Amino acid sequence: MENVSNNYANNVKFAISVNPTFKAICEFNIQQFPIDGYYRYYSQLGNGTNILQTAEQLNTYLASYADMHEHKLNLAFASLFSKEDFNNKSAEIIDWGCGQAFASCVLIDFIKNKNINLDLSKFTLIEPSAMALQRGLDHIDAIYQRKPKPQTFSINEKADTSLSIKGFQSNSKIKIHLFSNVLDIHSLDLNQVFKNVTSNFDGLNYFVCVSPINGIRLQTFCKMFGQSNLLSSNGSSIVTEVFRPSAMKKITKSISRVEYIFKTNL
Ligand SMILES: C[S@@+](CC[C@H](N)C(=O)[O-])C[C@H]1O[C@@H](n2cnc3c(N)ncnc32)[C@H](O)[C@@H]1O
Repeated sequence: MENVSNNYANNVKFAISVNPTFKAICEFNIQQFPIDGYYRYYSQLGNGTNILQTAEQLNTYLASYADMHEHKLNLAFASLFSKEDFNNKSAEIIDWGCGQAFASCVLIDFIKNKNINLDLSKFTLIEPSAMALQRGLDHIDAIYQRKPKPQTFSINEKADTSLSIKGFQSNSKIKIHLFSNVLDIHSLDLNQVFKNVTSNFDGLNYFVCVSPINGIRLQTFCKMFGQSNLLSSNGSSIVTEVFRPSAMKKITKSISRVEYIFKTNL
């Protein structure tokens, strides 16, 4: 597994060196996706919610969902950055149930493309799949071939086990928590996630929560913060181009999305 992981890290870094972006990571993976990949691996993904354990599953997840997730995340970040001015600030990112860290990567590209002068000083990745977590670190490292590199901190745990990571955060920095396609998972204990957030993070905290379905769970999570300041909630479908692994080509498709974006002082 070590070698597979090292190879992936080196290969993706090399493949995207001319254009180190999340889009390039996606193109690299889609090029690797085998012609029979859909029939061999798609059913192992459990609609994207399974804790993935093989390189083939990770590649299939990315080929199947990255376009969709990227689109939803870009809309969510557009909402956040239109409401709040982050210029000349520094933030720490916490990517909960990060998988291969799509949300962190899309955020890195978003602020670069929009010329937002926000320093992302640290990424904390929380994810129960060790292989997905490693790929998340590989992806952030590959994108940050452009300098300077942020700190990364990985936690190979579920988001709803009791976490004690308070000493690892900076009190003075803004925190941006990313919940990308995670809060909708029914087995996730929202109360425990809430406890993990409130017991480990101080100061000004932003939350970007996006999912394809189950807006009610996102709303429930948002309401747990009581005094929280809702910046955006949206439940509209969008039409976009996505790679369809069963057809091995991009198609135009309507995708559903829900988002809750809010901030709170802890
Ligand atoms: C739909 S994927 C989303 C992954 C990533 N955030 C994204 O947007 O691509 C769901 C992720 O949640 C993870 N997961 C499953 N149960 C979890 C739990 N209890 N806590 C945190 N993550 C969990 C899975 O391993 C998987 O990576």
